[in-house]
Amino acid sequence: MVEIDNVRKSFQDLEVLKGISLKIRDHEIYGIIGQSGAGKSTLLRCINGLEPYDYGTIRVDGKKVSATDKRTLRELQKQMGMIFQGFNLLERLNVYDNIALPMKFWGKKTNTPEAKEKILNLIKLVGLEDKAGARPRELSGGQKQRVAIARALVLEPRFLLCDEATSALDPEITKGILSLLQRINQELGITVIIVTHQMEVVKQICRRVAFLSNGVVLAEGRPEELFVKPERREIREFLHEESALLPSDGINIQLFFTGKGSEEPVVTQMARELDTNFSISWAKLEDFRKNVYGSLVITVKEEDKLRVTEFLDKKGVTWEVIEKAVVDGK
Ligand SMILES: Nc1ncnc2c1ncn2[C@@H]1O[C@H](COP(=O)(O)OP(=O)(O)O)[C@@H](O)[C@H]1O
Ligand SMILES: [Mg+2]
Repeated sequence: MVEIDNVRKSFQDLEVLKGISLKIRDHEIYGIIGQSGAGKSTLLRCINGLEPYDYGTIRVDGKKVSATDKRTLRELQKQMGMIFQGFNLLERLNVYDNIALPMKFWGKKTNTPEAKEKILNLIKLVGLEDKAGARPRELSGGQKQRVAIARALVLEPRFLLCDEATSALDPEITKGILSLLQRINQELGITVIIVTHQMEVVKQICRRVAFLSNGVVLAEGRPEELFVKPERREIREFLHEESALLPSDGINIQLFFTGKGSEEPVVTQMARELDTNFSISWAKLEDFRKNVYGSLVITVKEEDKLRVTEFLDKKGVTWEVIEKAVVDGK
């Protein structure tokens, strides 16, 4: 478990982390999302001790991450594999030797049968059997990231830290890398911490997510909770979801579907039962891992507002009247 408690960190006068508290449980895939400059990479580097923090505590499995305790830090870093946007492979080494590198670095033998078997198994795991002898320049971006993933796993870490690991890859390749991370999480039981500015990444594989903005965690929870009905203006802006195009006549009511798929008939049922007209002004369906979540904005006449909201309450649908200020984009 990673416990982050009220962590602060400044670079000179610039406070980059302003009291971050989070708990990342064992065996989960945890996302940290936010805009560029939010402090995500800094937080990740504090977790694995690459960067010291000024205040608060970070504990990994109960052990405090502290820049002054070098021995604990070394042990900790062995437990944490890391991958980056830029892959960071050594061009003069082939795939096999790139993967073996951390073993060399930690003074482990790489020419024993066990070591060879381990490396070949990793090459197989990431699907690069036919590329073991290739140099990085002969590989595509997705293949390079696969090498980096294998390299990050060679010391058998308990955590895999990913910093914008798919940001340089196109969507199809990203999907492949994400399913590989998911397999690694499920089959090897490795806790995966994913830092990203890409919503797609969080939606596809993260069980829980923290939204970081300007050094502060604005919200934390299941992605579907955070992003289907974002409470905070900052998150709506991040999702480009200020519903500026909604009609200014009538009342705009947003309905939230929670993935059971049972709510959709409600809309047609409502039109029938209340014998009224309304328009659907905006709609969105989202895939979150296996479930579909959605939200719908209907525009009703002022005089129907009460009847409609009472109907929705009766049906147990979560709804919210969108205030005009939001409609005007203010
Ligand atoms: N080594 C550094 N020295 C000075 N400022 C830094 C350093 N690293 C990051 N920053 C600043 O800290 C802020 C957060 O950066 P970062 O953690 O990289 O954000 P993110 O990963 O969310 O894009 C940015 O304003 C960045 O310029
Ligand atoms: Mg970053």
